[in-house]
Amino acid sequence: MKKIQVKDLRPGMVTAEDIYSIDGQLILGKKVILIDKNIEKLDSFGIYSIKVEDYVVSVAPAMNDVPPSYNERVRQKPEFLAFKENFESHVDLLQTGLNQIAESNSNFDAENLVSQTLTFIDNIDRSVNLMDMLLNMRDYDDSTYAHCVNAAIISNIFAGWLNLSQEDRAMATSCGLFHDIGKVKVPEAILKKPGPLTKAEFDAIKRHPLDGYNILDAAGLGEEIKNAALMHHEKCDGSGYPYGFTRDKISFFSKMITIVDIYDAMTSKRVYRDPICPFDVIADFEKEGFDKYDTDMILTFLRNVSNSFIGFRVRLNNGLEGEVVFIHPEQLSRPTIKCAGDKFIDLSVHKDMKITTII
Ligand SMILES: [Fe+2]
Ligand SMILES: [Fe+2]
Repeated sequence: MKKIQVKDLRPGMVTAEDIYSIDGQLILGKKVILIDKNIEKLDSFGIYSIKVEDYVVSVAPAMNDVPPSYNERVRQKPEFLAFKENFESHVDLLQTGLNQIAESNSNFDAENLVSQTLTFIDNIDRSVNLMDMLLNMRDYDDSTYAHCVNAAIISNIFAGWLNLSQEDRAMATSCGLFHDIGKVKVPEAILKKPGPLTKAEFDAIKRHPLDGYNILDAAGLGEEIKNAALMHHEKCDGSGYPYGFTRDKISFFSKMITIVDIYDAMTSKRVYRDPICPFDVIADFEKEGFDKYDTDMILTFLRNVSNSFIGFRVRLNNGLEGEVVFIHPEQLSRPTIKCAGDKFIDLSVHKDMKITTII
């Protein structure tokens, strides 16, 4: 008999004692042959180590069949596969388009790109949660172009949450699509640099709003689209760049894109870090206060993003897994989670716990 940590357990090992949860519930009996499913069960109860027999038995593959995780199931759905294919071809289209605009290729038709983007978004099968599909795209592409397609989609959804007219919804989508076009002038080595930037490098990045404005101006795009490119890094409290504009100087659509931009950048994979869990992003927004953003917009955005994860399975920092069942309006990043055995954990009370992953 030997003691082994749950993370090191393998299928075929045999329990050498009854295993109980912290509240005395029997999780697994003695002499149980472990399969992946009951190793996960031990993990979900927060068990750290157990005693197993010295021998291992072979486990038939069928015995060890575990159902695919939620994300695996999403990624196998035909709706997701269709979305992924359209998303990727749209990223290619945008890459060609933005570069042509930046090279002032007068043959390029920006309006056509906008209408193709709107058609692409309108045709997405809404039977699956769109925010969820975007999260499942995270491993595929972290280029500026993919970020712009994401920003267009999220801005389109956000405009719906704000009850904007059809026309404004299209405008918000265009603003999202073109907001970072100035980045085509920033060297790739700076954009993808893993680690802290030098002052000169950061200055080069800080030029992209104005470069974007000038590129879009030369291409003949409208004021709102140009302003969103120019002001999407401005903050309502004056702490943004390039001009340090305050609330009343920043355009309506820029205020929307600022929020969308931060949310997308943080939930995306970067060369220097993995995607940040949306609930951590919401917590960051809550922590820093809402002075930097339009108050109505930020509250609408965070409320809708957090509510879009109701019913999702999540993992907590103590290894427990469960389903998001209730979002607290006052603490959007700390929902109530339903775990195994009908155990409810209210994260707005249990401040030592937090969601680490959506699974
Ligand atoms: Fe930007
Ligand atoms: Fe951006």
